[in-house]
Amino acid sequence: MNTTSTNCYLLAIESSCDDTAAAILLNDKVLSNVVATQEIHEQYGGVVPELASRAHQQNIVPVVTAALRQANIDKNELNAIAFTSGPGLLGSLLVGTSFAKSLALGLNIPLIDVNHMQAHILAHFIDEEGYDKPTFPFLAMTISGGHTQIVRVDDYFRMSVIGETIDDAVGEAFDKSAKLLGLPYPGGPLIDQWAAKGNPKAFPFTKPRVDGLNFSFSGLKTQIMYFVQKQVQQNPDFVSQHLADVCASIQYTIVGILMDKLKKAVKQTGINQIAIGGGVSANKGIREALTQAEKNLGWKTFLPKFEYTTDNAGMIGIVGYLKYSQELKDKNNYIDTGIHAQSRLKL
Ligand code: KG4
Ligand code: ZN
Repeated sequence: MNTTSTNCYLLAIESSCDDTAAAILLNDKVLSNVVATQEIHEQYGGVVPELASRAHQQNIVPVVTAALRQANIDKNELNAIAFTSGPGLLGSLLVGTSFAKSLALGLNIPLIDVNHMQAHILAHFIDEEGYDKPTFPFLAMTISGGHTQIVRVDDYFRMSVIGETIDDAVGEAFDKSAKLLGLPYPGGPLIDQWAAKGNPKAFPFTKPRVDGLNFSFSGLKTQIMYFVQKQVQQNPDFVSQHLADVCASIQYTIVGILMDKLKKAVKQTGINQIAIGGGVSANKGIREALTQAEKNLGWKTFLPKFEYTTDNAGMIGIVGYLKYSQELKDKNNYIDTGIHAQSRLKL
């Protein structure tokens, strides 16, 4: 794709779930990437939508102000604004959408809507030293708290989902397992930390049988629940005594499920360039398994920089920039006030 030759300073806003985020990009480079994570949800063991929208309301102005300040940019220098239009929690999306729309109208600059799931994939096109960009076609596995998909990516905006979860997302499997072990929300990163100290083969869990490239995680969650209940009946201190081994075993099983489907997808498509994205792509187990696959299976793998794994606005900004370069650069002052938030949005 020919990207624009003139410089584009772009503000990106992400507010689809429980992170309020803003970033400033200069073309495909991220100048600042600010995230306010809403800690209020921890005490409820999961995201409470009403509280998330309220926290976005409080955070959005300070977060955007911080992003501008860190990038040393005045708002009048901006050439475009990109925002997440979906998928996500509607009340949360509305905060970012309304803010972005109003600011774009006020500054009279283009407004660009971004699909959150495309952003997790296209984050690999942010210009970062030490990080290669995939070439087309490649396979992307998006693994987050809300989604688990394998996507065939033929071009920036030509993507097709070839496999996805039929029930829980993989991040939910991590978080719900962590909750059963008494760990706070979100438990995914904690399972990852404990897993590093444990034996992955200590407690064998069975992997679900699901056709094709689809995933299922709800059975694993139930299996872990019964396992923990049974062990605690026999030994009330089981969890505290074996936490590292249980976490390592859960992580080993989940990574195994993901890798089995990826191997199948590579076989089916003949594509062996694999990029991962979404919060769970921060997981050391999946990163290690993919690094091994480079050596053992000859795959070329792309692991995002940590700051672009969990929800952030840098990834929204790169999609905004790619759309700006492709569609909007000649239509100065293009603002479609009809753009709106959508809780369900397909790739
Ligand atoms: O992409 P994300 O920030 O939000 C959604 O769009 O869902 O993903 C959040 C999910 C949570 O389920 C969190 O527990 C999980 O990503 N996560 C991890 C790790 N870091 C974040 N899961 C396993 N290991 C990690 N290191
Ligand atoms: Zn996400």
